[in-house]
Amino acid sequence: MEQYSDDVHHDILSTIGNTPIVKINRSAPAGEHNFFGKLEYFNPGLSVKDRIATAIIDGAERRGELKPGGTIIEATSGNTGLGLAMVAAVRGYKAIFVMPDKISEEKRASLRAFGAKVIITPTAVEPDDPRSFYSVAKKLVEITTGSFYTNQYHNPDNPEVHYRSTGPEIWRQMGGKIDLLVAGAGTGGTISGVGRYLKEQNPDIKIVCCDPYGSILHDLFYYQEVRSPAQPYKVEGIGEDMLPENVHFDVIDDFVQVDDQAAFDKCRELSEQDALCVGPSSALALVAAIEYSKKLSSPSNILVIMADHGKSYLSKAFNHQWLQESGLVKSILHSQRVEDLLKASPLKPVITGMVGSTVGELITTMRSNQISQMPIYSDETLMGVLNETDLITAIASGKLQVNDPVIHLVSGHVVEIALDDTLANLSEMFEQDLVALVRDRSDQLHILSKIDLLEYLGECH
Ligand SMILES: Cc1ncc(COP(=O)(O)O)c(C=O)c1O
Repeated sequence: MEQYSDDVHHDILSTIGNTPIVKINRSAPAGEHNFFGKLEYFNPGLSVKDRIATAIIDGAERRGELKPGGTIIEATSGNTGLGLAMVAAVRGYKAIFVMPDKISEEKRASLRAFGAKVIITPTAVEPDDPRSFYSVAKKLVEITTGSFYTNQYHNPDNPEVHYRSTGPEIWRQMGGKIDLLVAGAGTGGTISGVGRYLKEQNPDIKIVCCDPYGSILHDLFYYQEVRSPAQPYKVEGIGEDMLPENVHFDVIDDFVQVDDQAAFDKCRELSEQDALCVGPSSALALVAAIEYSKKLSSPSNILVIMADHGKSYLSKAFNHQWLQESGLVKSILHSQRVEDLLKASPLKPVITGMVGSTVGELITTMRSNQISQMPIYSDETLMGVLNETDLITAIASGKLQVNDPVIHLVSGHVVEIALDDTLANLSEMFEQDLVALVRDRSDQLHILSKIDLLEYLGECH
């Protein structure tokens, strides 16, 4: 290898780590906090688990627990399997993986692509049930000679590699300017290892674990007992129905629970708005980070561990039919934004009036532009809206003359809505009889009416 530069790797495994950190711009709220993602899908197996796969096998080889030609066995939700399958391929081991049936078909197929065997077990059984993926994996180890059970949930090499590599990488990349780390816990390796390292650098850094509703980790952290029994949920890779030894509660400051709906919505948003095509567990971590950031009293740098790539979930998180069958599709009002409506049916820029104008002047303006309502400004400030019905009533009843100032007729029932607001927000405004104004990206103001929304919804169906 001497004739090549350092950029040429000895094998694929040495490309693991040094994943980039990217600022999350559009799928996180703009404001005083900065949100960043540590993109673990830049690892060759597309997930954070490549790191522990190599570390665990290195440890087993060092201790003589895995001999040449041996068999690697693991109970895995997929990503660890992929990392281990790569190590097995590069170093000449056999590999068998046991995984619950909720794991996506893409993940199973990718393991087989590296030459590994996959055994599927039912999800809806207790961990100590002989059919559970933990029990089946244990049994396989007993009956396979020369096998090594990687035991990612309890093997200390797992948090250790995050303490030695992921933690220092983050500290270096952020130049020490990190206030909050948010990560999920599957085995707990990532959050425990990274959390310990960061706390040693600066004990004020908050370490927050995001947990899907249905996992028992939240209850164990807060109450040292399970108050809401484990329930199935759709997000893969994080949350547990038992307490792995690699979850170290002592480095975790807080837990935030998130439901499937919020996680899957954010997953598509991250991909569509920031081109960050990550898995649902990464999106869930961002939802938790946004929620937790509301409690922070000073501007903070918030780092979210984004554990894997969205490509492994094309048949789920990014598949409309699966989302619909899983009850995870919200109405079009929730999924579409005001900007989508504007793009689909370009509206004319709105004609505005000034508070100092007279009733007569504005009647002329409304007639010549064929409009029925008009926002009224005082300099830059929106004072309200003038509509033709109020004008007719006022003039017909003799309450106002054409030379009177229009200010008496301006109603406050008007608000500006943001391009990023959902159509559900717009519809709520209409329900309250508010007039909606929106400023487009070139600073043109438009009025949105109920008929615009109706027409758009008609076109979408
Ligand atoms: C998709 C995904 N996200 C997050 C995690 C959590 O990582 P850890 O096992 O280090 O807690 C995993 C682990 O399986 C995972 O597969």
